Amino acid sequence: MCEITEKSVVRGLRDVAAAETKISYVDPNGSLYYLGYNIDDLVGQVIYAEIAYLLIHKRLPKQHELDDFSNQLIIEMNLPDQIIESIKNAPKSCHPMDILRTEVSHLGEYDPDSGDFSDAANFRRATRLIAQVPSIVATINRIRLKKPILVPKKELSFAQNFLFMFKGDIPPEKETNVIHRYMTLHADHGFNASTFAARVTASTNSDMYSAITSAIGTLKGPLHGGASEKVMDMLDEINPEKDVNEYIQGLLDEKKKIMGFGHRMYKAQDPRTKHLRDIVEDFCHRQRSLTLYNRCMEIEQMVFEKKKIYPNVDFYAAVAMDALGVSKEFFPLFFASSRISGWVAHVIEQYEDAVLLRPSADYVGEFGKQFIPIENR
Ligand code: CMC
Repeated sequence: MCEITEKSVVRGLRDVAAAETKISYVDPNGSLYYLGYNIDDLVGQVIYAEIAYLLIHKRLPKQHELDDFSNQLIIEMNLPDQIIESIKNAPKSCHPMDILRTEVSHLGEYDPDSGDFSDAANFRRATRLIAQVPSIVATINRIRLKKPILVPKKELSFAQNFLFMFKGDIPPEKETNVIHRYMTLHADHGFNASTFAARVTASTNSDMYSAITSAIGTLKGPLHGGASEKVMDMLDEINPEKDVNEYIQGLLDEKKKIMGFGHRMYKAQDPRTKHLRDIVEDFCHRQRSLTLYNRCMEIEQMVFEKKKIYPNVDFYAAVAMDALGVSKEFFPLFFASSRISGWVAHVIEQYEDAVLLRPSADYVGEFGKQFIPIENR
């Protein structure tokens, strides 16, 4: 009989610190810091490329550094032809997040730095991925809409190019402002599940494309980045004739989760919510955004009264994306297009830490079973 030592299981790894990080701090009391900067001081003051630079270089850029970085990102938005062909051949029925996951993995086959794992090569890869993920997302949308695939314009900022290549029109100032704020708010968030997945893969000294493929697969789930699409499903389902109170109570009675609510880390309001609510308020002169906003406010109040939980980043992000004209199946792809800067920053940090992330488990299965050959079973 084999002797096993009982181990205490931390279910869901709740409150377990798996590594040290300098990239971002999630304060349970309702604040979020990137490299020591409170996001409240960044949102609306920076463009997204500045945040992407901050995360991977661990300091804010000077103007000329930002200009060089932005130019590099715009150049890197041009995808290899094989990736575009592969997106064209993807089944029309699959979720666009499946295509993104596959094509990021596919990009690894065309890595110009293949076999070079130096720090310099990893920074080049990180920059390419920050540029190529949004570019893949825009390409998927254009192909699905049977519209021409667009190339980036030098005179636009990187985030503006993303929206331009996705939608087909040069975004006006208001939309440009929204995409910078949205991408800044989604860029990083401590050891969330997808970042942790990326770090686990990187901790085996696997390559950056493999790590980001793991992250995208993890983000896709509705308990994580897939939540905003489900929020819009819920808002669509609560049509004007339905009573919001009755609908929410019905979900709670069936012990179902209200999508876009609750958080593992925050004991107070998610600090990103107020910024996303502000974005939505900016669009409330439009009837659709106003209707959705009012419905959201009602839900927010009701869920707090009944469960004492707050909306998370995905709740108002859904309505903000809707106001930008993004269809709901693309919501998690916009999340990925922003979080990619945090993911690559964490992958680089994990390489520096150089420790295998490998927990153990408490075995609760059997021992001593007699083997029976297949012909006798
Ligand atoms: N609706 C109803 N009840 C909830 C919800 C919710 N959305 N979230 C938490 N609760 C309740 C839960 O039922 C439990 O209550 P009780 O103690 O009475 O059983 C309590 O709050 C604690 O919940 P938990 O599920 O143990 O908390 P967790 O830390 O394991 O889960 C979560 C966190 C985000 C997975 C969960 O809140 C959830 O499923 N939310 C809905 C999905 C969602 O919006 N996900 C986006 C997360 S934030 C952004 C991101 O990561 O992408």
